[in-house]
Amino acid sequence: MTLKLGIGMLGYGFMAKAHTNAYKKIKYIFHPFPAEIELIAICGRDKNKAQEAAQRYQYQKWVIHWQDLVEDESIQVLDNTATNDVHCEPCIAALEAGKHVIVEKPMALTLAEARKMYEVAKEAEKKGIKHMVAFNYRFVPALRLARKLINEGKLGRIYQFRSNFLSDRLSNPQAPWAWRLSKEKAGSGVLGDLNSHAIDMVRFLLQTEVQAVLAWNPTLISHRLTPEGKSCPVEVDDVSLIWLKLANGAVACLEASKVATGYKTTWRIEIHGSEGALAFDLIRGNELQFFSRRDPVEIQGFRLIHVTEPEVHDYISYWWPRGHGLGWEHYHINMLEHFLRCIATGDNVAPWGATFLDGLRCQEVIEAALTSSRQGGWIELVY
Ligand SMILES: NC(=O)c1ccc[n+]([C@@H]2O[C@H](COP(=O)([O-])OP(=O)(O)OC[C@H]3O[C@@H](n4cnc5c(N)ncnc54)[C@H](O)[C@@H]3O)[C@@H](O)[C@H]2O)c1
Repeated sequence: MTLKLGIGMLGYGFMAKAHTNAYKKIKYIFHPFPAEIELIAICGRDKNKAQEAAQRYQYQKWVIHWQDLVEDESIQVLDNTATNDVHCEPCIAALEAGKHVIVEKPMALTLAEARKMYEVAKEAEKKGIKHMVAFNYRFVPALRLARKLINEGKLGRIYQFRSNFLSDRLSNPQAPWAWRLSKEKAGSGVLGDLNSHAIDMVRFLLQTEVQAVLAWNPTLISHRLTPEGKSCPVEVDDVSLIWLKLANGAVACLEASKVATGYKTTWRIEIHGSEGALAFDLIRGNELQFFSRRDPVEIQGFRLIHVTEPEVHDYISYWWPRGHGLGWEHYHINMLEHFLRCIATGDNVAPWGATFLDGLRCQEVIEAALTSSRQGGWIELVY
């Protein structure tokens, strides 16, 4: 009998749309897929909006209390795309109720919450329960190739990881206040929103741990107007600058900003080693640049790899013939396919997907970055 995986979606916003879109496509893109995927229920606080979302995305039911998702026996997977303050409690309740859980990043509002979530997930894992944090960029074929080249020693000893995650979303002082600017709802600003991806990518690509953190996370625009015209304080950072000392001896410099006028969203990653270098830019997400010092000196330079060969590049064989690229939407589909396949087959979520342990490790760096920014100086991490 085919395994049925009923999905309970917490939230009906931006990420709920991206994840629901993935659940609809997995079955026919990753054909044959070892489970049936059923959209059981979607949850949000506003009754009318929840109802509208259920109709639009074709969920069987809508609810306004997340507890109803946890109690629903036809749901096997809780997908938590709610605001950061609503990550911890529903995830723990769902894990304790025997449901598999995927949660959006950052995993939690605080380090204390992340620790609790990880402890519960570790226990649930003993009963075969899967857990994952939605670090979707682990599922970009070009970044998978980057990891492979690093593992093959093509870069030699890694010296440096540099990341610039830039957006102009808050560049305009008239841009409205939103939940992401509240400490109570978001925990941190650009740090948790954008730099969390960079922190995870350092660990994913270099497969090393962070030893120490030096950071400055300033708030450049202190107040913004709500859509109703009320002035609200901005309680979190709109720029996040982090330096990391890594256990493998390398250093990382992670810059994230939402006041980077001129950039809709771009994420440039560069990695430099003794034998070579890599460069990736999210707006050219199907490409990876590779420099090798082993090339004859007269032709040394960054070569541009179009990462679209079905036989050799991860995920491409499921999608389009060679030369046809993937985009932001596809990284979520690849990610959720991995999670559901791991549930169906019993395979490990790690190392390709981020587990709650990876989420916790990221949160430790976020917390250290907040502390460093507040009090100054390096913060050592002890595991
Ligand atoms: N992986 C990525 O690339 C990516 C991109 C954007 C956002 N995110 C993450 O996704 C999460 C959601 O962000 P978003 O942009 O979709 O936000 P959003 O504002 O579009 O949606 C948030 C949803 O949470 C729901 N919600 C809040 N409190 C709730 C409660 N008590 N009960 C039920 N529902 C509740 C809201 O109704 C809304 O539907 C955040 O953790 C964010 O960091 C990840």
